[in-house]
Amino acid sequence: MDVVRTITATRVAVSRLAAVAFVPTMGALHEGHLSLIRRAKELADHVVVSIFVNPTQFNDPADLKKYPRPLEDDLAKCREEEVALVFNPTPEEIYPPTEIPVRIDVPSLANGLEGADRPGHFEGVCRVCMKLFNIVQPNVSCFGMKDYQQLKVIEAMVAAACLPMSVERCETVRDPDGLALSSRNVRLSPEDRKHALGLSKALSEAERLIADGESDPQVIERAMTQVIEAHHGKVGYAVARNARSLAPLDIINPQTESVVCLVAAEVGEVRLIDNRVIAPVPRQ
Ligand code: PAF
Repeated sequence: MDVVRTITATRVAVSRLAAVAFVPTMGALHEGHLSLIRRAKELADHVVVSIFVNPTQFNDPADLKKYPRPLEDDLAKCREEEVALVFNPTPEEIYPPTEIPVRIDVPSLANGLEGADRPGHFEGVCRVCMKLFNIVQPNVSCFGMKDYQQLKVIEAMVAAACLPMSVERCETVRDPDGLALSSRNVRLSPEDRKHALGLSKALSEAERLIADGESDPQVIERAMTQVIEAHHGKVGYAVARNARSLAPLDIINPQTESVVCLVAAEVGEVRLIDNRVIAPVPRQ
C-alpha cells in the first residue's frame, strides 16, 4: 500500500491504477468505514482512501482540535483491507494559502437539519469532496447512509457538476443492540452508551407507527422526541421528511413518496445522529 501526501503524487499513483473506488474519510476508522472499504473493493479493481480532517466543515474550532487522529492505526487498518493507496494530505496541500476560495453549495438540501445546527458544514463538505474527486478521479465513491443528508448533498453535487463518477450508497453499520457506529461513540460514558439507544429506538417507533398507518408527521415527530427524551437525550431534531428532497411533509404516504425519519440528539456531551428510510429511496 502506498501512502502519499501531495496532490501530484496522488495523481501519478492513481493514473497507474485501473478502475478506482474511492472512500473519503476523516480517519479514526471504525467498522462503518471498513464496510465502505469492503464495498468499494467489490466495485472496482483498486480502492483509494483519503484520510483528511477537513477544517472547512467544522464550525467549532474546539471540535476540530479534539477530532481524533490515530493515523498509524488507520494505516494499519487500510493495509489489512488491501487498500491500494491512502491520500493523507496536510491542510495546506488541500487549501493553499494563495487559493481564492470557491463556494460549492446545495442550499435546498443543505440548509436545514445538520446544516442549521452546523452553519457552513455542508459547504465545507462539498468544497473538500469536489477537490478530492478531482484529485482521485474515481469511477465510484462510497458514502454511508448514516450521514443521510451528506449523502443527498454529495449525490446532488455530483449530478449537477456532471462529474464522471457514481456515488454508492452503503448501509449504516450498527452495534448488535442497534446503535449506529460513529467515531463519536467512544466518547460516551457507559451510562450514556445506554441512553444513546434512544435514537435507534425512536426510529423504530416511527417505523412502527407508519407501518400501522399513521400519516401525520407531527405525531411521528412527537413520538420520536418522547422516546429520545425518555432516554435522557436532548433532541436537536426528530423529523419525518421527503426522502428525496428532505422537504417537510404535510402527510405521510410511503406508498407514493419515500419517507426518511432523521434524528439528532445530545447524549451526555456527545451529539449523535441517525436516520431510517421507511420505503425504497427514489434516485434523483
Ligand atoms: O463523512 C465524512 O467523514 C466527511 O464529511 C467527508 C465525506 C470525508 C468529507 O470530509
